[in-house]
Amino acid sequence: METLQQLSRSRDKHSRLGVASQVQLGISMKRLVFLVTDQIYVKTRRYLQKVTDCLDEHTSLYLAHVEGFYRGLSYASVRKFVNQQNILYGTVEHLAERIAKLARSGSFELFLLALNQSSILPAMALRRLLGLPLRPGFIESCDKRRTRKLLGKCADLAVDYREITPGEPNSEANPFEADQYVVKPAFGMSSRDVKTFKEWGEAKHYAESLEHAKDWVVPEGVSRALDLGTTNARIIEPYIDGTEFSIDGWIQRDSFNAIVQHKLRVIQRTSRGDESLVSQASNPSRLHDQWSFIGDGPTVSPPVHAASLPSGRGWNELKKSETTICTFGRMVLDTIGFSDGVFHIEGRERQADGRLFLIEVNPRAPGGSLWKSALLRSGYDLEFTDVMIQLGQSVPPPKSQTYKHVLHYPFYAIHPGILSDWGDLFGRKAKTVLGLQIDKAVKLGHHFQDEDMSEEPYLAFAVAYDDTLDGLLRKCRAVLKLNPPHIRPFSE
Ligand SMILES: Nc1ncnc2c1ncn2[C@@H]1O[C@H](COP(=O)(O)OP(=O)(O)O)[C@@H](O)[C@H]1O
Ligand SMILES: [Mg+2]
Repeated sequence: METLQQLSRSRDKHSRLGVASQVQLGISMKRLVFLVTDQIYVKTRRYLQKVTDCLDEHTSLYLAHVEGFYRGLSYASVRKFVNQQNILYGTVEHLAERIAKLARSGSFELFLLALNQSSILPAMALRRLLGLPLRPGFIESCDKRRTRKLLGKCADLAVDYREITPGEPNSEANPFEADQYVVKPAFGMSSRDVKTFKEWGEAKHYAESLEHAKDWVVPEGVSRALDLGTTNARIIEPYIDGTEFSIDGWIQRDSFNAIVQHKLRVIQRTSRGDESLVSQASNPSRLHDQWSFIGDGPTVSPPVHAASLPSGRGWNELKKSETTICTFGRMVLDTIGFSDGVFHIEGRERQADGRLFLIEVNPRAPGGSLWKSALLRSGYDLEFTDVMIQLGQSVPPPKSQTYKHVLHYPFYAIHPGILSDWGDLFGRKAKTVLGLQIDKAVKLGHHFQDEDMSEEPYLAFAVAYDDTLDGLLRKCRAVLKLNPPHIRPFSE
C-alpha cells in the first residue's frame, strides 16, 4: 500500500493531505464518519440520531464543528451521540489537518457528511483539502450564479439574471422587462438577504452598494479551498409573480423519487402584519422593514387546482401536475449535473402563463418540518436518505405508512421578545385535530432579538395528514385557528 506521504505528493495543491486514495484502494476498512456542522442547534441532535441509526460497530462518529458561524446549544446537548474527544472545532484548514491525522492512524474509510445548508460548502472545502472528490452539482447549486449560467443551456429552463459585484458600478440599462426585480446574494442562505424593488435602477443601486455586502456566510478558508471567487456577488432577476412550490426527493444514479409541496400562500411578514406575496406589487419597499422576512404559509402536497380550493382565503393554485413539476425538477438536476443526493428544489409557477421557473436548488433535505410532511406522503425520510446516500449506500425502500394528502404550517414569532407560552399548540384544541403533530423549533423562554426577526423566526411546525383533500383542508383551517404562541415583549 502506498504511504500517505507518497499519496499526498501526487496530489494538487488543495489535496496536500491526500487521504482520498486510501478509499480508492478498496481494502476492507473501518469507517470514520464526520458530521460537518457550523452550529449546534435543535436539528443537530436529530441529525446525529439519524446518522447513528445508519452506523455499525465498525464506525466511529465525529462532529466536525466549523468555526465562523456559531449560534445555538452547547456540546452537552450532543454528548449522547459523540464523545467529547470526538468533537473537533476549528477552521476548515485546522479540521482537515485533524481529520487527516486520524485517517493516517489506521486503515479507514472516510466520510464527511453535511446535512444542513450552511455546512455543505464547508464540508466540500474539507473534501478538497483532504483530496476527496467533490459531489457533482453541489457547488453549482450553492452558487446561484452558476446554477443560472447552467440553466441557460436549456431553453425551457433559462432565466433572465444579471450578476453584480458590490463596489463595481455597472452602467447597463435595464436588460429585461419586469414588474419587480429581486436582488439576492449568490451564496445566500436566508431569505433575509432577498430584496425586491420596483425599478431596475433601484435594484442595481442596492446590489452595487458595499453597504450590507457581507461575504454571505462563506468563511474565508472555505472560499479559498473551493476557489469560489468573489462570494459577495449578487444576482438581480425578474420577480416571478406566481405560486411557489418545492420538489423534494432524492436521486441516486438512475433512481429518482420526488414529490411536490405546494405553498398555498407565501407570506411576507412585516411589522404591520402579513402580506401575501403573490400579486402584491403595491409597495415593495416593505421588504426593508426591520422585522420583515419571506416565509411559508400553509403548504400542502400533492398540488391542488383552483377548483378544489376554497375561495376568499388568498390561497394560490398550482395548474401543473405533480408529474410535470417533478419532470421539470429532474431536468434542472440533469442540467446542473446533480446526480447523487437529496434535493429541495424551490420554484414558482408564473400566474400569467403557468410557466415553471427555478428559484433555487438546495442539495439537502427540506427544512422546517417539510421533511416530515414529505415522509408522511412518500414514505422516505429525506434526512435519513441523505445520510445513506452520503455513506455510499443504496436507498432502501420506504417502510413507513403514507397518506394521500399532507399539510405543513410554520408558526413564526411576530415581534421580538421572549416565548412565554405555547398558546393552543399543545392544548386541548390542537388535540382535537386527528393526527396533528407539532414540532418545536425553540424552547419556552427563547429570546427573539430584533435581528432574529428578519430571518424566519420559527417557533414550531405543524404537520397533518388526511386521506381526502377536504379532510386535510378542514385540518388546515383548524390549525390556522389555533391561538398562536405568545411572545412577551422585552419591555414588559
Ligand atoms: N425571482 C424571484 N421571484 C419571486 N420570488 C422570489 C424570487 N427569488 C426569490 N424569491 C422569494 O424569496 C425567497 C427566498 O429566495 P431564495 O432564492 O430561495 O433564497 P434563500 O437561499 O435565502 O432561500 C423565495 O422562497 C421566494 O419566495
Ligand atoms: Mg430558498
